[in-house]
Amino acid sequence: MKIAIVLGTRPEIIKMASIIDEIRLREHELILIHTGQHYDHEMSDQFFEELELPSSNYNIGVGSGFHGTQTGKMMEGIEKVLIDEKPAILLVQGDTNAVLAGALVASKLHIPVGHVEAGLRSFDETMPEEINRKAADVCSKLYFVPTEKSAINLSLEGIARKKIFITGNTIVDACFRNLKIAKKRNLREFKELLNLNNILTLTMHRAENVDNKERLKNVIDAIAKLKEFNVVFPIHPRTKKTLMNFDLYDALDDLDHVYLIKPLGYLEFLLLLSKSSLILTDSGGLQEEAITLNIPALTLRYNTERPETVTAGGNILVGSDKEEIVETANLILNDKKFSNKMKSAKNPYGDGSSGEQILNIIENTYHNNMLAIKSPDTIMQSFTTEIKMIDEDITVSEFENKNNSLIKVAYDNDYMKFPFDDLNIKGMYILFDKLS
Ligand code: UD1
Ligand code: UDP
Repeated sequence: MKIAIVLGTRPEIIKMASIIDEIRLREHELILIHTGQHYDHEMSDQFFEELELPSSNYNIGVGSGFHGTQTGKMMEGIEKVLIDEKPAILLVQGDTNAVLAGALVASKLHIPVGHVEAGLRSFDETMPEEINRKAADVCSKLYFVPTEKSAINLSLEGIARKKIFITGNTIVDACFRNLKIAKKRNLREFKELLNLNNILTLTMHRAENVDNKERLKNVIDAIAKLKEFNVVFPIHPRTKKTLMNFDLYDALDDLDHVYLIKPLGYLEFLLLLSKSSLILTDSGGLQEEAITLNIPALTLRYNTERPETVTAGGNILVGSDKEEIVETANLILNDKKFSNKMKSAKNPYGDGSSGEQILNIIENTYHNNMLAIKSPDTIMQSFTTEIKMIDEDITVSEFENKNNSLIKVAYDNDYMKFPFDDLNIKGMYILFDKLS
């Protein structure tokens, strides 16, 4: 099978790595399309090298720019490749502009799209990522969602449950696999940093934080007050530029307890995380890695599309509120009971086998002739959407077969449940489409 992948930024490379490994292991033909959105060595090539990924077959070289221009250029480049290569499926990951561009172009060429990390929602329409993931989810054919919550988000938006697969998040695959490798490597130059006490790892790059002087200054002021920590801050290029433009860089660099460094490779970064007492971040991937590695996280945002990390107890949203950041960070450092509780939060993102699960699903769908996009060959059926209380012992698929229906979601008292085939729905309300 010919499988194409579009990626373009640091987190996409990391989160696609286990899928790429699995594709190669199973000897499928891989077409790797790099959009060129991230182009610095530290933001792209070093991850290909460390994660031992093959070079991309195509690099569209879009570089930086306005969202429309960047997405438009990506679409043009991806379209040409897809017309030439005609893959059986295109995989996209997450919520960057590459995901929007890839999903739009492929779906119009009737190439099925598999969206890895689908179904996340922050419900914040000002985030470019929220637009990207929602638009991509309209265009996709297979949805690889990390948790039941993201599956329910899609169900409620009208996506048929048979297209949704809860596979965990490939970040766990990357984390487990590479932390083991990192621990065996002799990363000598890096040892000084790792020997520090009370490490607080800081990353930020979200437009709403770093392009807003007031918010950025609040976070920097909070950092200045967190003198009990050693703050290690590998700076994203976007953030470096805005810190300099707002004239905040030098003051931050002058602080004795702050270590401003260039973006790290994945192995070094995982080691740093594993030695940290606290992660302060606005990154999506770091919220997931924190709970995977049992490190307390404070998220510099007012909402998150990863609410599972918050409800599990491993992540607290602190926004860009100076006092809130300082108080909560010091509480984590000084109140062992509080920090141990955060560390013991259960990881909601699976066991590190997401890449393998995703490839199993793609192969199954392909071999059962369910992957291709075809126009419907039956005369359109009308349907009504109904709610019903179920008082018999019956599973989702038994109910659907018996009643010529498709269940969207089930309600178990106050909890919404994703309708897995074998879920027994006795005692639950169900929302379903009844075909006539
Ligand atoms: C992008 C993604 C974001 C993701 C992040 C991961 C979108 C809309 N945004 O944000 O979802 O979380 O990547 O890091 O797709 N720059 C460099 N060198 C590089 C790349 C960027 O200097 O290699 C600088 C440029 O000044 C550029 C700025 O960073 O204008 C922002 O880059 P861009 O790719 O537009 O957005 P990110 O903030 O990286
Ligand atoms: N990361 C890294 N080196 C760094 C900072 C981050 O390898 O110096 C990794 C981190 O472990 C995570 C990913 O980059 O897997 C997160 O990328 P980013 O925060 O840029 O994007 P987001 O996850 O917010 O989309």
